[in-house]
Amino acid sequence: MPVDPLDVDWWREAVIYQVYPRSFADGDGDGVGDLRGVIARLDYLNDGSERSLGVDAIWVSPVYPSPMADFGYDVADHCDVDPLFGDLATFDLLVRGCHARGIRVLLDFVINHTSDQHPWFVDARASRGSPHRDWYYWRDPAPGGGPPDDWTAVFGGSAWTLDVATGQYYLHSFLPQQPDLNWEHPAVVDAMGDVLRFWMARGVDGFRVDAVQQLAKPDIGADAEVVSLIGEGRIDPRVTGHLRTVRRVLDEFPGRVSIAEAYVPPEELAALYGGAALDAMHLAFHFEFIRLTADGAYTPWDAPRMAALLRRTQAALPPGALPCYALANHDVPRFRSRHDADGRGPERARASALFLLGVRGVPCMYAGEEIGMPDVVIPAERRRDPGGRDGARTPMQWDRSAGRGFTSGHPWLPFGPIEVDVAAQLDDERSLLSLYRRAIWLRKAEPALRGGDQAIVHEGASTLALRRQAPGARPVLLALNTASTPARVPLDGEFARVLLASDEHVQLKGEASARTLVLPALAAAWLVP
Ligand code: NOJ
Repeated sequence: MPVDPLDVDWWREAVIYQVYPRSFADGDGDGVGDLRGVIARLDYLNDGSERSLGVDAIWVSPVYPSPMADFGYDVADHCDVDPLFGDLATFDLLVRGCHARGIRVLLDFVINHTSDQHPWFVDARASRGSPHRDWYYWRDPAPGGGPPDDWTAVFGGSAWTLDVATGQYYLHSFLPQQPDLNWEHPAVVDAMGDVLRFWMARGVDGFRVDAVQQLAKPDIGADAEVVSLIGEGRIDPRVTGHLRTVRRVLDEFPGRVSIAEAYVPPEELAALYGGAALDAMHLAFHFEFIRLTADGAYTPWDAPRMAALLRRTQAALPPGALPCYALANHDVPRFRSRHDADGRGPERARASALFLLGVRGVPCMYAGEEIGMPDVVIPAERRRDPGGRDGARTPMQWDRSAGRGFTSGHPWLPFGPIEVDVAAQLDDERSLLSLYRRAIWLRKAEPALRGGDQAIVHEGASTLALRRQAPGARPVLLALNTASTPARVPLDGEFARVLLASDEHVQLKGEASARTLVLPALAAAWLVP
């Protein structure tokens, strides 16, 4: 079914799927994925039948012309497509192909910086008096020479790089090839607004807004201490202000959505939505389940920890705001490998599908997670990313042919284990892919899962149960066991039937009000009355 333009709130009940275009499907055999490749695989994403995944939107990581220092997050032209990926006409075909299948298209809006090859920056560095000079941040060297202060970039090293010709340093929160835009300059705000308009006029349904936390800089001149631009885990009020400006541009076009990317604790998320007014971003990513914690490990798959996070999130978000959950993306190791210290990552991956698609919020999946792709160890000579994230970016494995159905050429990154592929899982009822498909289609059929309220109704040492409820619809219970031994969840008689389970040995025991749900190790289930 094609998208319904009158359904302006579509995103509230959507399942979003992240396509990392370099690694999704290669249409021209150069070993790098491209737009033609994505177009050829749209039926896999949603052909209207339960044989397809059934996602409602794709978020496409950057396809703009770029020197690829940060694989597209260094944008050299906001209003075109890099020849590596295709051209604008092919992009229009992608939008048309998606819309015909009921799939919305979100682009990546790289708000905080451009490439150093972008015409704005090329002009900015041409002379101190250039019209675009103040579109970026410039400072004189420290009195004795060297960078103006000790600010460090997200990928390490100084956040300042000297422009030898003009004798000043420019600021970059990320790589030196990614100079930060000055959002305090009205011309920048206007020009970036026009970028959004350009794509929305082409039919784009919204944007994932990159690195918003970096939009506000530490106070320039507030010297001495080392300030890391990785962010202090806080959203500065200036960030909210800029996001409100972005929102006003989106509001010129009905039915568009914005999703903020910021690695902040739940308490800071409200500021991304604009607080109670909800006049900034429509959604913000909730990254607590995937980020590196202070002790240097990824958040463990642990029910009490998850319950605490859900409670904090519920308390922190303004009424009407939905979190956008991601359990993986192109910046962190894949879920299965993050939770595989004991070799049981695949079981946790199954449970995580039911969690992601069952918890209150908008789920955002990362391509390849639905088949359980692991992080791939990349030999030193094939590493490409200065941030060390290649392992989570290896090409999608469509089948077991030499090019894995991804390419007819030589893939830009090595493939993972051959036995993880779409083709085999499509035909296997017990595969992770089949579990994802079933979960997504069942979610569409259950108003409680799509948009219901959520109450934590049970918490045990390794268990958690969430009751979802929408007006006029049957409730659904999401129950999880994160221990590697079986566990029981007492039920009060309301739930009598397993709708979907990550493990075939999930069982209901007892009668009526004395029912117990027996969850095998690492299992999850959805129950209905
Ligand atoms: C977040 C993106 O997801 C990441 O890949 C990129 O390196 C930084 N932002 C900088 O744009």
